[in-house]
Amino acid sequence: MSKILVTGGCGYIGSHTIVDLIDHGFEVISVDSLVNSNEEILQGVRTITGVEVQNYPIDICHLTELRRVFQENQDIVGIIHFAALKAVGESVDQPLRYYRNNLNGLLNILDCMDQFGVKNLIFSSSCSVYGNAEQLPVTEATARQEAESPYARTKQFGEDIIADFAHIHPEHQSVLLRYFNPAGAHPSALIGEAPSNPASNLVPVITETAIGKREEVVVFGDDYPTRDGSCIRDYIHVMDLANAHTKAIQYLLNGNNTGNCEIFNLGIGEGVTVLEAIHAFMQVTGQKLNFRIGPRRAGDVEAIYANNNHAAQKLGWQAKYNIEDIMRSAWAWEEARTVTG
Ligand code: NAD
Ligand code: WQD
Repeated sequence: MSKILVTGGCGYIGSHTIVDLIDHGFEVISVDSLVNSNEEILQGVRTITGVEVQNYPIDICHLTELRRVFQENQDIVGIIHFAALKAVGESVDQPLRYYRNNLNGLLNILDCMDQFGVKNLIFSSSCSVYGNAEQLPVTEATARQEAESPYARTKQFGEDIIADFAHIHPEHQSVLLRYFNPAGAHPSALIGEAPSNPASNLVPVITETAIGKREEVVVFGDDYPTRDGSCIRDYIHVMDLANAHTKAIQYLLNGNNTGNCEIFNLGIGEGVTVLEAIHAFMQVTGQKLNFRIGPRRAGDVEAIYANNNHAAQKLGWQAKYNIEDIMRSAWAWEEARTVTG
């Protein structure tokens, strides 16, 4: 079995990806400092897959500790690098913490790849690198605009650092995955999004309101020039996203890549408005939702959704789930985690 190191494996996308990797015959180890997660999520992974995944609870910014992981696991063939801080608003208030964590962590991963001869890297990038895109849907060739936050800038820098590294290391190969808006949970409701920090993304805000943890959902503006006035995003089910990582690592391991630093958009290719998302939630769950229209949120782009042809053609990836599936699974997870505490 090929061994994959997943950084941030106790996090939201990392834990779902581990399940998909195991389902496809990979052996996985995780490195996660638990700064925004809990190791208990790996119990859910074990119940789903029957496999106990080892997590090294270390901060990847500590190079000596990270090196020890590679020393103990000389058979790692690829790295999927999720570990990063990701709260956009927090990054505006704590820019240095975001730059330090997200960039030093990546630099240490690249150092270890170099030192220990690990050739394959998948990097979590974000549609936030496009900023306020000039053309929709965005393709990988759409020009990146000024980042709207320090968080988004860490993703732009991260992509550039990997491209520079790839340039001088033709033997290394990387895939940069630009996720759009990940949401939803594993269909078993045994794992899902469980951040230590309060969630601010739309879907957890909806489910937490419906279950009574929050009073209301505030729709950030209904005066945008969109079909109902609210912002448009491309919501991608976390299970589809997880599977794209398996496909991306297989793509590199099978030598199907045509460059040593390639970029893929990962969205379903359809834009959904905030109000449509809210109505989809109410329709599939039968729950009432207390929502009201509020002012615009600073830094929000009016609309963004992906052209995903590149991932379809080269990775053979296709989204299986839509906004209704996302809402159904997110609600099942919210109910399950509220019952179990
Ligand atoms: P998450 O916070 O659930 O997972 C990230 C994990 O990394 C957490 O478990 C955290 O404890 C860990 N971590 C952070 N810094 C670390 C460090 N220095 N050392 C070791 N562990 C560390 O976030 P997620 O939603 O699963 O996101 C995963 C990746 O995808 C991140 O890089 C994020 O920026 C990127 N991304 C997320 C989204 C999204 O909306 N969720 C969208 C685009 C890109
Ligand atoms: C979605 C839509 C809000 C909450 C962020 C990051 C991006 C990527 C994905 C990491 C927007 C509206 C939200 C609420 C609302 N993450 N909304 N009321 O901002 O598109 O993207 O997560 O890389 O980089 O910026 O996601 O879920 O916060 O918002 O009306 O309480 O829902 O205005 O239109 P966003 P989101």
